[in-house]
Amino acid sequence: PETAAPVVAKGLAGVVVDTTAISKVVPETNSLTYRGYAVQDLAAHCRFEQVAYLLWHGELPTDAQLSQFLQQERAARRVDRSLLSLVAKLPDNCHPMDVVRTAISYLGAEDPAEDDDSPKANRAKALRMMAVLPTIVAADHRRRHGLDPVAPHAQLGYAENFLTMCFGAPPAPELVRAFEVSLILYAEHSFNASTFAARVVTSTRSDIYSAVTAAIGALKGPLHGGANEAVMRDMLEIGDPALAAAWLRNKLARKEKVMGFGHRVYKNGDSRVPTMRKALGDIAAATGGGVWLRMYDVLARTMYEATGIEPNLDFPTGPAYYLLGFDIEVFTPIFVMARITGWTAHIIEQAESNALIRPLSEYVGVPQRAL
Ligand code: CMC
Repeated sequence: PETAAPVVAKGLAGVVVDTTAISKVVPETNSLTYRGYAVQDLAAHCRFEQVAYLLWHGELPTDAQLSQFLQQERAARRVDRSLLSLVAKLPDNCHPMDVVRTAISYLGAEDPAEDDDSPKANRAKALRMMAVLPTIVAADHRRRHGLDPVAPHAQLGYAENFLTMCFGAPPAPELVRAFEVSLILYAEHSFNASTFAARVVTSTRSDIYSAVTAAIGALKGPLHGGANEAVMRDMLEIGDPALAAAWLRNKLARKEKVMGFGHRVYKNGDSRVPTMRKALGDIAAATGGGVWLRMYDVLARTMYEATGIEPNLDFPTGPAYYLLGFDIEVFTPIFVMARITGWTAHIIEQAESNALIRPLSEYVGVPQRAL
């Protein structure tokens, strides 16, 4: 007798593949918690480094733990000349995500303890990747503008140091804070595609650098991290808030997806958006970028009226990063600088309670035949 065809969960939608103690997404209440803390509370009260520590250790650091952590992170920011010259050899027109992916792969190649996957070793490697990513992203950003790299600063916080390395001088404190809020909101998001990719690689007992390299590849796509870039390209194409509603309706009439809207898990709004919309407002006020804020509001309202679909986090971060002065291609590498914390927390968790991830497929090709 024929057996019934198995149910195929296309895109793994709705499938629970493992347990995790790192973050929790509750679609019904649109809430997101990291280790039990609401993400908007962390964004309001913590610096990014505290959130990194929380994700890796399960608890917020004490003052003594934080000062040691800050010191370790700041001491690990420099990259050696060979890495900088390697990335400088990449084609000028390659995507900055290719640079970041190559740099992490290189860090693995030069680490003699690459294969040590104990939690302690993985946490040290995670800290090193977190510390050097801003140095690499900033150096690449400046190289594309014909500028020499600015060395990392040993006394500045993670966000302020990065902005200083990119632009040569520390920006206003409210801009630093708004940027830091975006990093906290981007830090972790349960089993999203890139985190799952990292866990798949880790499940084979491959090393943490390989897992992060795979995660960067997954994040690059426009349906995931690349959406913030697409949002800003759309906004520049529209150009004027007065044209935004018609642009959006035309797009929907052509059955095209509007980047920065919708979410696989949140169907009634993304809990991170109100906090980031406020940070965008702060950046727009400080930089004279009110036009993008007005366009944001027209697009969000028109989309909601037409479809009931709400923006996701990539919608406010697109114009926020643009107003801070970043080239559009740098938006997703910034996402990497934040999500490195969540990815590596998941890699450590996967390595500690591992089972090889190996799903099944339903064969629909040609039946077996004679050769
Ligand atoms: N624009 C227009 N229609 C949309 C959109 C959108 N952005 N998102 C969902 N829909 C419609 C979709 O056309 C479909 O309609 P119908 O049932 O009539 O075919 C319905 O809503 C369900 O959409 P879906 O694509 O089947 O849902 P999904 O859970 O597979 O998609 C998504 C989630 C994020 C891939 C999708 O919303 C999307 O493509 N959004 C645009 C890209 C984007 O902003 N991505 C960032 C995601 S959040 C940050 C991150 O995790 O990186």
